[in-house]
Amino acid sequence: MQKIDQYMHEFLSELNYEPILTMSSKLQGGKKLRSKLLLKIANENETSYKICAIIELIHAASLLHDDVIDEAKLRRGVKSINAEFGAKNAIMLGDILYSKAFYELSLLDLKLAKVISNAVVKLSIGELMDVNLSETFNTNKNAYLQMIYNKTAVLIEASARSGAILAGLDEDDFAEYGKNLGLAFQIVDDLLDIQGDEQTLGKPAMNDFKEGKTTLAYMYLYEKLNPQDQAILQGYYKKDLNESEVAWIKNKMHECQIFEQVHQELNVYANNALKAIEKYNIKDLEDIIKSMIERDF
Ligand code: IPE
Ligand code: IPE
Ligand code: MG
Ligand code: MG
Ligand code: MG
Repeated sequence: MQKIDQYMHEFLSELNYEPILTMSSKLQGGKKLRSKLLLKIANENETSYKICAIIELIHAASLLHDDVIDEAKLRRGVKSINAEFGAKNAIMLGDILYSKAFYELSLLDLKLAKVISNAVVKLSIGELMDVNLSETFNTNKNAYLQMIYNKTAVLIEASARSGAILAGLDEDDFAEYGKNLGLAFQIVDDLLDIQGDEQTLGKPAMNDFKEGKTTLAYMYLYEKLNPQDQAILQGYYKKDLNESEVAWIKNKMHECQIFEQVHQELNVYANNALKAIEKYNIKDLEDIIKSMIERDF
């Protein structure tokens, strides 16, 4: 992981503009899931480290823009760039990270460049879908799944596919693994927004519903509530909730066994991911799924 940090720093230093380094130094400390995944599939060498650094720059750029969109004030345990330097700086730093990443990618390999840049188009479309779905109380699960596939799973899928391309393995098998892992990953992220606390997450908790996002747990809860309680839940939508209102939502989710229901869904994606790569017998890829589902940040 140190090698990846070095390349990221090198890429950004080449841009020769001090504010870029000042601001991006606040962005350290992510889990580097996408890099870990790629390096479990591909051999570790300078090219694979560079690809990881590129993917981490892209991921960081997506978070910069995402925090502007979600009006999030905390990221990776520190003030978000939009909170500390304002949205204008966060947007432009995001553009710089994306563009530098694509430039470095263009120097490496055309096939990987196509796979990864195409994933970023979809990621951005996914964020747009998220924005659009957040306008009204969404209860369409397929629309939600399509949105999280694009905004999150596609880049994880592309990371796994890139690893397989570098290793000369069947790219579709690993892409299928990455896609299912990515769907599970966003479903867990959405659960953690409800079940986690800011301190552990290093980012805001209970922010999704306030921002208009009816993630899986909210959709399942809505389905199970009686009309009276449905109206209460809808009344809380997009509001700054007090403690007792938050407690009401969480209690109803417990009563209705919503977390169990979401975990059943998670297991489906985890099993699909495992099935896609079972013939390769790579224990580390099984462990990644487990740690992704059981994580608390
Ligand atoms: C956060 O991604 C955004 C989502 C896709 C859910 P990560 O959870 O991988 O963020 P870091 O890189 O570890 O901070
Ligand atoms: C963002 O999803 C996914 C992106 C790729 C940018 P979220 O909005 O749920 O991510 P967090 O919770 O802010 O990390
Ligand atoms: Mg967000
Ligand atoms: Mg978001
Ligand atoms: Mg989230």
